[in-house]
Amino acid sequence: MKRPLFAAAACAAILLMGQTAVASECKVDVEDPFDLDEAAIAEIYNCISASMAEGYAAEGDAVGTAYRTWTVSSTRPAVAGAHNNRLLQTFANDIAAEQYLKFAEDGVVMPVGSVLAKESITISKKKKAAVVGPLFIMTKGEVGSSPETGDWIYAGLQPNGKPMKFKQSFCHDCHVSWEAQDMLAYPLEEVRRKN
Ligand code: HEC
Repeated sequence: MKRPLFAAAACAAILLMGQTAVASECKVDVEDPFDLDEAAIAEIYNCISASMAEGYAAEGDAVGTAYRTWTVSSTRPAVAGAHNNRLLQTFANDIAAEQYLKFAEDGVVMPVGSVLAKESITISKKKKAAVVGPLFIMTKGEVGSSPETGDWIYAGLQPNGKPMKFKQSFCHDCHVSWEAQDMLAYPLEEVRRKN
C-alpha cells in the first residue's frame, strides 16, 4: 500500500519542480516583441501568468492582490509600442468596467473609484526570455482632487510587488493625448474585448 503513495508523492514533487523551472524561465526566440505571433504570445502568457500575479501581490497591495478578479479588457496581451514595447494587458475594476469596455472616443467621464491595472511583460533580448514588467495603475479620484492630472492618480508596482516611484507628469504628459477619452488609451483595436 505504501508504494503507490510514495510514487504519487514523488511524481507530484517532480511536477512542482518542473513548474518552478518553467515559471522562472520563459524562453522567447524573437528579439523584437513586434515579431511575436498570437501562438507565441499565448505560450508566453501561459508560462509567466501565475508567477506574475504572485509577484504583484507579494507585498499585499490592494490592487496587486485583486486585479486578476476584475474584468479583462482584451482577448490576449498585445504589444502597442508605448510602455517600452512590452506585452500589455489591462484589467478594469467593477466601477470602471462598463464604461472602459465601451472604448468610447468622445466626452468620456470615468466614474470616481475607477481603477485600471495593466500588467506588462518585457521581452529581454539579453536573457532571450519573457520577464515580468511593472503593473501600471490608474485610479480616478473625486472631481477636483487632482486637477493637473484630470483627477487620475498614476501608480505602479514592481514585479516584486513594491511600489514604483515616478512623477505624475511622467505618465500624464503622454496620457493627456487621450483627453477626450478621459486620458485612457485603450488596448489595440484587434484585441479589444466586446462588453
Ligand atoms: C509614451 C506614452 C505613455 C506613457 C509615458 C505612459 N503611458 Fe500608460 N498607456 C499608453 C498607451 C498607448 C496605452 C494603451 C496601450 C495598451 O494598453 O495596449 C496605455 C495604457 C495605460 C493603462 C491602461 C488604461 C488605458 O489608458 O487604457 C494604464 C493603467 C497606464 N497606461 C498607466 C500608466 C502609468 C502609471 C504611467 C506612468 C508610469 C504610464 N501609463 C505612462 C501610453 C503611455
